[in-house]
Parts: sequence; structure tokens; C-alpha cells
Amino acid sequence: MKLIVLLALFALATAKHEMYTGWKSYFVKLVDEIQSKLFASLADKYELDILSHPIIGREGLLLVKPEYNDNFIQDLISIGITFRIHSEDVKSELDYDDLMIEQQHTDLKARNVGRQLPYDNYQEIEAIDDYLDSIGRQYPDVATVVNAAESFEGRPIKYVKISNTNFEDESKPVIFIDGGIHAREWIAPPTVTWAIHKLVEDLTESDLLDNFDWILLPVVNPDGYKFTFNGNRFWRKTRSTDQNPLSTVCPGVDVNRNFDFYWNSVGTSNSPCSDIYAGSRAFSEVETRVVRDILHEHLHRIALYITMHSFGSMILYPWGHDGSLSSNALGLHTVGVAIATTIDQLSLPNFAKYVVGNSALVLNYLASGGAEDYAHSIGVPLAYTMELPGFTNTMQGFNLDPRYIQQVCNETWEGIVVGARRAGDLFKNKRL
Ligand SMILES: *[C@@H]1O[C@H](CO)[C@@H](O)[C@H](O)[C@H]1NC(C)=O
Ligand SMILES: [Zn+2]
Repeated sequence: MKLIVLLALFALATAKHEMYTGWKSYFVKLVDEIQSKLFASLADKYELDILSHPIIGREGLLLVKPEYNDNFIQDLISIGITFRIHSEDVKSELDYDDLMIEQQHTDLKARNVGRQLPYDNYQEIEAIDDYLDSIGRQYPDVATVVNAAESFEGRPIKYVKISNTNFEDESKPVIFIDGGIHAREWIAPPTVTWAIHKLVEDLTESDLLDNFDWILLPVVNPDGYKFTFNGNRFWRKTRSTDQNPLSTVCPGVDVNRNFDFYWNSVGTSNSPCSDIYAGSRAFSEVETRVVRDILHEHLHRIALYITMHSFGSMILYPWGHDGSLSSNALGLHTVGVAIATTIDQLSLPNFAKYVVGNSALVLNYLASGGAEDYAHSIGVPLAYTMELPGFTNTMQGFNLDPRYIQQVCNETWEGIVVGARRAGDLFKNKRL
């Protein structure tokens, strides 16, 4: 019976993801700086869609269009870059992912009352918003849901403020975490909603509310997120069409290139059809402005800002636009290592160990206008981009089976707890 249902679902699913017919995905491994440079030029030449940046000694994962496949592989071989195939057919990989998600929904329904929790599975934006609203209704003393703005397509951009002193105790440091800046990075929003769950519904360590106020924004880019469910699974940007005459054909801006810090100077594109399009100007996107406004509103007491991305198991800190170190590099590194060490101890053998470092140096790639750099540039002492884990050494990579969402949420949460406490200590010292 179960098999019949699965097969029926599979037949339905196959009409989706047509646009990825013939695409292939590869793991590549770089051994030195020379290969790293050569790879960067291949990425441009063949318009590679990079899901995880290859760093020296650690595989990356990328998608290749059908028309470029043969030449790309020839170039890899002639340069001597090691690669292995991740998927012979990206479309069928995506169909399989859908099946796993459906299966997870079915299993969950069998086990619980049917409430869809945003960290149980990869959920649609509406289920995430419903969860936030229900938290606000059930726990008005600690949780306040803010409808910050409407996205370009008119969806609410919601975040939750969590405090046992109504955000009025100015001596408390604020911890700000967001997810879903990049629409397709589906593992990011659950780590933020799980943090909400742990702070509101299942608070086990009271110092987290006694000593901190929290701002949790699970989906910065709801339009893009929606589009990854009903349009293009690998959509990364917003969905705005007002940036450039070409934006009606190629919508969207990369929110993580849209902040006003060395805006559009490196690692960005002026073409609306690019996945790293910086927009017509800094803060052109309402989604970017929501993050900016939260940072500014609470700037005097934000001790820690983490923006959740995937994947690669990396904790990255400024400056990403030029690879130089900030005056707080020691603090950034020390707290980053504390977070990484905590997570690594709880992690699975198939998840890579975390790498901690300056984002440009770790990735061998400069990028300007990112959220982490902007937050730090205006005075947030600890600002990180976290690249959450994906499976290594198996075929899975980016497309993490929904059965592992809970693992990622748990281990990431323990890292956040350690990061918050360390940030709190540094913040206290700063204020003395
Ligand atoms: C995650 O943590 C919760 C407690 O917060 C625990 O009940 C659950 O078993 C953990 N799950 C995994 C996969 O580690
Ligand atoms: Zn990202």
C-alpha cells in the first residue's frame, strides 16, 4: 500500500523540475591556490551554480548546465582538478528529494496530531508564518511577532522578539539570528524556528532569557522561498522586477550582495540574470532593509548576529570584501571556535567538521555587500555567516534528507547557546 502511494506521488512529482532536465551536479576538490584561481575562472566561463564553495582540501558541490557539461569536464581534466559526479540527472535528484519530503510528512502525520512544525520538515512559508503567529498568541508574555514589512510580492516578513523583560532592560545584550536570505538554502529556516521553540516552548536554561533578549527572523526572503517550492528549486535571490529593464525577464537581487558596505565592488554582478546581482543600489530590496533596520534599532546592544546559510560547515567572519581582519578579529575567532567546537562534539560522522575563519580567506573568494560585513561595519561586535552542514562523502550534499533536519537544529542550537553566552561575557566587559 505504502509503495503504491509512493509511486503515485512519484508520478505526480515527475512533471516538476523540468528545467533541470539534463543538468548534472559534481563534487570538486581543489588542492592549492593555483587550482582555486583556475576554478574561479571556470565558474565564470561555464556559469556554474555553486551550492557549496570548494575550499582547499574540502570538496564543493556545483551544478552544470547541459550545454556546458562536456567542455567543463574536459577543462577539469586538463587542469587536473579532481571531481566526482554527484548526480547524473539533477531533475531526478529533485524528484527524489520531493519524495523524501512527502514521506516525512506522511510519517509525521502518522506519529503526531497533524500539526506542521517548521523544524519537522521543509515547510512552505505559510506553515512557518502560522507557527510564528501561534507562538505570539500562546506566549504573549515572552514572544512578540513583528510584521516588519511586506516583501516585493506582498508577503509578510515576520520576526519574533523574545524577552522576559519586554525588551525594556537595556543592560541585556541582544542576540539576532536570521535565515533564508538565500531562498534555496532550506535547512536555514528550521534552525531559527527551532531556536524559537527552545526559547519559548521548551526553555531548559533560564539564563538564556534572564540574561539576553532575542530577535529571530526565520525567512528574510519569503518570495524567493515560495518560488523554490513552486517554481525553481535552486532560486537564490528575491523576486523583484523593478531593478533594471531586464528584471522583468530575470527577477531578483542577491540580498547578500545588497547591503551598503563596499556595495557592488567585488564578487557581485551588474546583470539581473546573475545569481549574485547586487541590485540597482544598496538596500534596493525591502528584504535587505528589514535586516538593516533591526540591526540599527538595537545596535547599542546587539552582541551577536548570525546569518544562517547552507552549506559547507563553516563559521565565517568579516571582512569578506577584502580578506583583511577587523580590530575584533580575536574575539570573532575565539567565539567562532567555541561555537564550532560545541557543534562538532554533537555532530554526525557524515557531517564535515566546522571550519572557522575570515570568510574571504576560507572561501578563497571575495564578496562585498554581505549581511555579516555590514553588521560588523556598523558596530555589531560579533557577526557571522554560518554555512550549515550537508552530507559529505555520500551523494547527498546540499539536498539534506529531511530526517536530518532535527539533528542540524539540535547541534546548531547548542552552538548558538555557547555563542550567546560568550558574546554576553565580552559584551559585559566592553560596557565596564
Ligand atoms: C534534539 O533535542 C531534543 C531535545 O531538545 C531531543 O528530544 C531529541 O531527541 C534530539 N534529536 C536529535 C536528532 O538529536
Ligand atoms: Zn547562502
